[in-house]
Amino acid sequence: MSGGADELKRSCSERFCTLHVDVTQDDSVQKAKEFVEKNLGKCELWAIVNNAGIYKGVIAEYTKISDYQDVLDVNTLGQVRVTKAFLPLLRKSTGRVVNVNSIAGRISLAHITPYTMSKCAAVGFTECLRRELDAWRIKVISIEPEFFKSPMNSYETMDKALEINRKDADTEAKSSQWQQYEERVKPMTSIVSAISSPKMWRVTNAMEAAVSMEHPCSVYVPAGNVVKRIFWYIVEIIPAIFLDAGLRVIHGMAPFVGRLFK
Ligand SMILES: NC(=O)c1ccc[n+]([C@@H]2O[C@H](COP(=O)([O-])OP(=O)(O)OC[C@H]3O[C@@H](n4cnc5c(N)ncnc54)[C@H](OP(=O)(O)O)[C@@H]3O)[C@@H](O)[C@H]2O)c1
Repeated sequence: MSGGADELKRSCSERFCTLHVDVTQDDSVQKAKEFVEKNLGKCELWAIVNNAGIYKGVIAEYTKISDYQDVLDVNTLGQVRVTKAFLPLLRKSTGRVVNVNSIAGRISLAHITPYTMSKCAAVGFTECLRRELDAWRIKVISIEPEFFKSPMNSYETMDKALEINRKDADTEAKSSQWQQYEERVKPMTSIVSAISSPKMWRVTNAMEAAVSMEHPCSVYVPAGNVVKRIFWYIVEIIPAIFLDAGLRVIHGMAPFVGRLFK
């Protein structure tokens, strides 16, 4: 059992159970379903929360196909696999599916391409599922946080992903391109890590609301503060031509701004 699971066991009710599940493996998800069924007793399953996610690949050109596949397998197909397995149980309770997606599912940000692809597909899955399952009165809720501080988007994780790209670039395209990329991209990783909000409770509050409110929202967009929420809303709705121009300016300024965040 991991440290986190141990801590949860200590701090939660005696009825709380943990189970290791690999959402990329059918048999692991199937075992989890059997475990839940066995332990439900007379209760019904009320909700599943699809939270698993990974991040790989900074530069689209140098990211291996296998890394794209890994990200899609966890972030998108993992959600599909778990949801398909548990839907028969949720149908009995007319319960809920809560999918932890991302703002990257609505806004295509450069340098997190595999992640963005996976989250766009996950948002699509979530929205289609909501409309399909309406016939059974099962609610399907999408949680789409902006950047929050977690191991996934720490400076170390992003730096490691960039390092992997650097190795692939060495073998695939030994050229001055890499130098140019690195000058622009490395500061962006410092900026993302620095602007990520430490208020992770805003995400867990959204999860709690999604699971427990009688009339939950279809989409929750937890943000670090109201200014960031407005910023991301504008980024989401402005025409691509303006967003592209804005991002061009930000990327151009990144080498200077990045130094401020180091
Ligand atoms: N942090 C952000 O800024 C942010 C923003 C928007 C959305 N999100 C989303 O929020 C969710 C949680 O991410 P986080 O920020 O809390 O990052 P995190 O701390 O790295 O959590 C990722 C979780 O996914 C689990 N996981 C990874 N691969 C798995 C697999 N194959 N099977 C089962 N579980 C797997 C990990 O389990 P192990 O620890 O056992 O590996 C870990 O618990 C993700 O879906 C992420 O995309 C995060």
